[in-house]
Amino acid sequence: MDSSDWDRRYTEQPRPFGAVANATLVAELVTLPAGRAVDLACGDGRHAAWLAARGWRVDAVDFSAVAIAEAERGWPAAGDSVHWQVGDALTWEPDERVDLVLVAYLQTEQLPLVLERARTWLRPAGRIVYLGHARDNLAYGVGGPRSPDVLPTVASLASALDGMEVLSLRHVVRATPDGDAYDVLAVARELPA
Ligand SMILES: C[S@@+](CC[C@H](N)C(=O)[O-])C[C@H]1O[C@@H](n2cnc3c(N)ncnc32)[C@H](O)[C@@H]1O
Repeated sequence: MDSSDWDRRYTEQPRPFGAVANATLVAELVTLPAGRAVDLACGDGRHAAWLAARGWRVDAVDFSAVAIAEAERGWPAAGDSVHWQVGDALTWEPDERVDLVLVAYLQTEQLPLVLERARTWLRPAGRIVYLGHARDNLAYGVGGPRSPDVLPTVASLASALDGMEVLSLRHVVRATPDGDAYDVLAVARELPA
C-alpha cells in the first residue's frame, strides 16, 4: 500500500486501529524512563499520544498526510510533547538521537532497512521496540496483510537485528473479535562499545 492507499483508509474509517495503545507495547514501554522517542509509521497517533501522556517527547512520523492531520486533531492533549510529521520511514531522519524507536504494525518489504536505519538513531542504551503481524498469522491467525513479503518472522527479525542485544523476540497472541491474531515482538538495544 502506498501513502494514497493509507490516506484513503484513514479518510474512510476514522481511527481504524482504535484509540487505545496496544497492550503488549504498553507492557514493554511502561517500565522505561521517559525520554525522547520516535514513533515511526505512527498512523493516527495512539502510541505517540500514550508516550506523551507518560512524559516522553516524541517525533511521530507517518507518510499518510491524512493520518497525521487526524493525529494532530485527535490528540490535542499531547500538545508540544509530540511533533507530528509527514515523512517516509525509508528516508526520514530525526534531528537528534533518541532513547526509543517504536515501530508498530508498519507493513513494508523494506523492514530490515527501516530497522537498520533506526538503530543508528539510538542513544547508548536506547531501544528499538518493534511489533507487527507475524508471517505465521497467515496460516494460524486472523486479519492483517495477506502478502508474506511484508510479514516478518522471528528469524527475519533476528537477522535484521544482528549485532544488537536482543532483549525480547517472540510471537504474541492478540485476541480480536474475529479470533486470535499472531504478532511478533522484538526489543533490542546496541551492545556496549
Ligand atoms: C497498520 S498502520 C499502524 C499505525 C500505528 N503504528 C498503530 O499501531 O496504530 C500502518 C501505518 O504505516 C504507515 N506507513 C506505511 N508505510 C510507511 C512508510 N514507508 N513510511 C511512513 N509510514 C508508513 C501507514 O500510513 C499506516 O499509518
